[in-house]
Formats: sequence, structure tokens, C-alpha cells
Amino acid sequence: MAPIDPHSFTDSSHPLTTHISLSLYLDFSTSVIHSSALLTLSSPFSGDLSLDTRSISITTILDPKTHTLLPHSLSSNPDPIKGSEIVISLTGQSQLLILYSTSPSASALQWLSPIQTFSKSHPYVYTQCQAIHARSIFPCQDTPAARIRYDVVMNIPSSLSAVMSARHVRRRLPSLEEAKHLDDVTASLWRGEDRVVEEFVMEQPIPPYLFAFAVGELGFREVGPRTRVYAESAAVEVLDAAELEFAGTEEMIKQGEKLFGGYEWERFDLLVLPPSFPYGGMENPRMVFLTPTVIKGDASGAQVVAHELAHSWTGNLITNINNEHFWLNEGFTTYAERRIVEVVQGEDIATLNMGIGWRGLNDEMERFKDNLECTKLKNKQDGVDPDDVYSQVPYEKGFQFVLRIERQVGRTAFDEFLKKYIATFKFKSIDTDTFLDFLKANIPGIEKEINLQMWTEGVGIPEDAYEPVSAIYTKIISLAEEFKQGKMPSEDEVAEWKGQEWELYLENLPKSCEPSQVVALDKRYRLAESKSYEVKVSFLKLAISSKCKEYHGEVEKTLKSVGRMLYLRALFTALAQAGGTEEKQMAKQIFAEARETYHPIAQGVVESILSKYI
Ligand code: BES
Ligand code: ZN
Repeated sequence: MAPIDPHSFTDSSHPLTTHISLSLYLDFSTSVIHSSALLTLSSPFSGDLSLDTRSISITTILDPKTHTLLPHSLSSNPDPIKGSEIVISLTGQSQLLILYSTSPSASALQWLSPIQTFSKSHPYVYTQCQAIHARSIFPCQDTPAARIRYDVVMNIPSSLSAVMSARHVRRRLPSLEEAKHLDDVTASLWRGEDRVVEEFVMEQPIPPYLFAFAVGELGFREVGPRTRVYAESAAVEVLDAAELEFAGTEEMIKQGEKLFGGYEWERFDLLVLPPSFPYGGMENPRMVFLTPTVIKGDASGAQVVAHELAHSWTGNLITNINNEHFWLNEGFTTYAERRIVEVVQGEDIATLNMGIGWRGLNDEMERFKDNLECTKLKNKQDGVDPDDVYSQVPYEKGFQFVLRIERQVGRTAFDEFLKKYIATFKFKSIDTDTFLDFLKANIPGIEKEINLQMWTEGVGIPEDAYEPVSAIYTKIISLAEEFKQGKMPSEDEVAEWKGQEWELYLENLPKSCEPSQVVALDKRYRLAESKSYEVKVSFLKLAISSKCKEYHGEVEKTLKSVGRMLYLRALFTALAQAGGTEEKQMAKQIFAEARETYHPIAQGVVESILSKYI
């Protein structure tokens, strides 16, 4: 008896779940899902089986074969990170049926009222399960060590439609038969006049964090043979812009296949979410979720798609066994993303992205100077909330490690190694040692060339990490240096700059500067109004730390219009650290007013930033 994952109650001596059948009744009036979950285990089990839940109310747990009740207990004191453990007594069953309801505060779900949507007339709900939020939608062994296939019958208002990270089977009228497991009240609602059922099936086994759906008044455009882009149908301008922005997706999939092997997920659809979506992108299989802030007509939209696409191999095919090995997901994906970007957008852009990453990695070392554990690739996460320690380290130090190996063995050999690695471990969840063993077996002697232990277990940035070089990268870094001496880049020098060049420049300026110089820079180049949120937020961060109060209005406007955590973290941290009571007060006030518009995960993250500094 031992836990296999610091973020789950799953026990090493228990069989893992292999299949889940979900029946979901979405009640938009109460923000609750009334559900049943039929779990199938890999083998029959006798004894106490542990499952993860968070703020879920269990009605009954049954043996689906005999319909007898299965005794169970739900821990009364939820763990602040893991949630509540349910323990169910089994006597040789390999299946169990759980009837339950979710809570309006389910951490994976954001329920948007009509007024919070584009249409202003229809509600919307969407999920974000990574890292440990699937348990707030259905009881499960919520660890990426488990791989499940699933099917879903989802009952929704007929004015809406549903999409999932799964194959859509059909849309049809609800039947009485399928409501039989539901409680009486829900069973009668199930066949309500204005309801329809959407059916989905997921045939490829996935870790629970990749479970995803969205329900709203949705429309789509075809952008490629296996790609549609979806958004609210009322958001015509979003659909139009997305169609253009993502026209190159098929080319990226083809390049990915060349580099990493066949695309195993059949479809690669994109869903553009409302602005409150807490991430830039989320690699939900078959349907990537994206923030609308990536659509701005420059290279960075495609970069986010390249990243989420790359997860189709690194992350979704080969998955970290738990969050202590998260770098296996994100480090490899950042490497794979840059390989795709290099082919479709050219080496210069790939190098710029590398440079932005290099700056980010160095900044994280400063952020974690009192918490060096977070600077390790493989790190201990007992008692640690993954949302609190989310950082660039697994991405950029992980990228650096993969690149270090590539540079050692050369591209051709490394490409071959990568393909073999993916083919060997596809649909498996692995840890760092499994990767290192495979590396040593396939590249004999590598451990003599690279200090593998220092890279995976050591703190900080190893000396043999690689700061990128290219003409444009070096030029931007030296221009940023010159700003300290009071020199602003000339119009000629920035003539070709797009979002990423500006982002690199701004991120390399000192954390705080002479206020008049910051204002002058903005007067000349209009950075606070940039269409690119990366540029806008980098600039506003600088303005806050440099005490340029004239930008407070723009900061407030930004924090009230988007919920992407990258921006919320940057701006709330800058306000909280600015030192002045005015900024701190402003942070508290904005959060109080905007809180309800943020996804529950983002609410938690902002809360923890404010409680740390204020
Ligand atoms: N899987 C991540 C998002 C994530 C990580 C969600 C951890 C929850 C917990 C996704 O692939 C990602 O890395 N998104 C980035 C995109 C960027 C690197 C191009 C983001 O959202 O900023
Ligand atoms: Zn990622």
C-alpha cells in the first residue's frame, strides 16, 4: 500500500481504471452536473478502493451487475490540494456505478452566464482539467499513471451544442431508458422538451487530465482536411480571424508527422474559448483549447498551435507518470514546438522564441531563489499545489536538456532517437528514470558526455545550457542594454519588429526603469495599446514596477478583460510587489471586482499571489 502520485489518493496495490462511461445532465440554472459514472477496473478487486473527488456530492454507489449498494465513505476533511478521498468496499467487482452531482464551485468548470458570452443570449460552460481538476467533474483515479477510454452521453439544452476531446458520435433526442440510473427529479428532466443528447466516445486511452468539453452556442469553419476551428457562432469576427490565423495548421501536422511519427488522434480541431480561458492553449486530444488572445495576425498564434500540436506526441502519447516529472511533458513539447516552428516559420523565429524562453528561465531562477526545489527538472511535490508552482522551469530547462542531448549527438541521430522514444512509449506514462535508461541504452556512453544527474536532479541552470545566437537576437539584447544608458531604439531599428521581437526587448529591460524613459518609449511605439497581449503585458509590468501611474487605467482594463493566467500572474505580481500601498490596494480592488469572471483555477492562483505579498 503506497501512493503512486503525490496529488492523488490512488494506491499502488489497487487496479487502475481502464474505462469510464459518463452520463451527464447539465443544469445551467444551478451550474450543477447531475451524473452517473460507470468505472471499469483492469481486474476484479476485493478490499477498499480509493478514488479522488473534489467538492462532489455522492448519491449512491452500486454494483452495476447486482444493483446492490456498495458501502463507501467520503473523507469529511478535504485535503486542500488533493480534495476528498472516497473509499469503496469491493468484494470481487471490476465495475462500480457512482451516482453523484458536481458543485457550482467545481474547480475544473467555468460556467458563464449569457452576459459573459459573445452572444449575450446563451450560457456557456467549459472544462480545464490539468493538472488535478478532473476529480471535480467525476470521481476517478486522477493521476496520469492511469489511462482510460471513455464514452459520454451529455444532456444539454437544445439551443446549445457540445464539443469534446473525443469523437462525436451523434446528436439525438434523450431516451427514457438512459435516465434509469438518475434520481427521480433528474430522470424527469432528462426528457424535457428543450433538451438534446450529444454522444461522444474516446477510443484512445488518455490520462484523466486530458478529459475536456465545452457547451455553448457554437459554430465552426473548416480550415484543413482534419481541422475545424470552433468558437461561439455569434463571434463571427473571431471565427473569421481564426480561419485566417490557423490556415497553416495542416502543414504543421504534416511536419510533425515527418519529425515525430504518425498523428495518432485522427482529428486536430481547435476551439477558441471566451477570454476568461486560463491558459494560452491546452492540448486536449482531438480538440485543442485556445485563448482568443492568440488571434492577432502575427506568428505567435501559430506558435501556440505548434506547441499544443506537439503535445500530440510528447505529453498525450508519452505522458509524465505524475507531476514530479512534468518536464517530460513540457520540456519535450517545447523542443518539438520549436522544431515545427523552425520548419514552418523559419530559423529566425525559432531562435527568437528560444531567446524569450531563455530570458524566462533566468527570471524563474530569481523567483525561486528561496525555493530551489522548483528549479529542478525532477522535483518533490508532496504537499505542493501544481497550480502554485507552475513555471517556465519544466518548459525551458526541459527544452535546454533535450537540446543539450541533440547538440551532443547531432540532429540526424537525435531525430532517429526521438522517433524511437515516441514509438516505444506511446500510450504509456513514464518517469524521468525510464527516460534516462532508454537514453543510455540507445545512445551508449551519453552519461560520460552529459552530466545527466545534474541536469535532472540539480538546481539552477547548468553551465552547458545554451543561450541562443542569431543576428536579430543579439541585436535586440544589445538594444535592451543600451536602454539603461538612456538610448531608445530608432524607428529604423524596430521597423521589422513584430510581437515576439518587442516581447524579447521588453523582457530584457531592467525590472524597473526611469519613469520618464518608460513613458517616452510608449509615446513613440504605443506599446500599452499593442494588439499583442504579450507585448502589452510586458510593457504594463515594466510600467507598474517603474511607478508610472498613468498606466493604471490600462492595467485595470486588461485585468478585467482577459483571464489568461500568464497575464494575471505577471500583472498581479507586479502590482503586489511594486511596494506602494496604492498598487496593493488597486490589486485587491481589481481582484474583488473581476474575480467572478475568472476561471476557478485562476481565482485560486491570484488569491495565492495576493496572500503572499499583501
Ligand atoms: N499543458 C499546458 C497548459 C497547462 C499546464 C495547463 C499545466 C494546466 C497545467 C499547455 O500545453 C501549455 O503549455 N500552454 C502554454 C502555451 C505556450 C507554451 C505556447 C500556455 O498556456 O501559455
Ligand atoms: Zn504544453
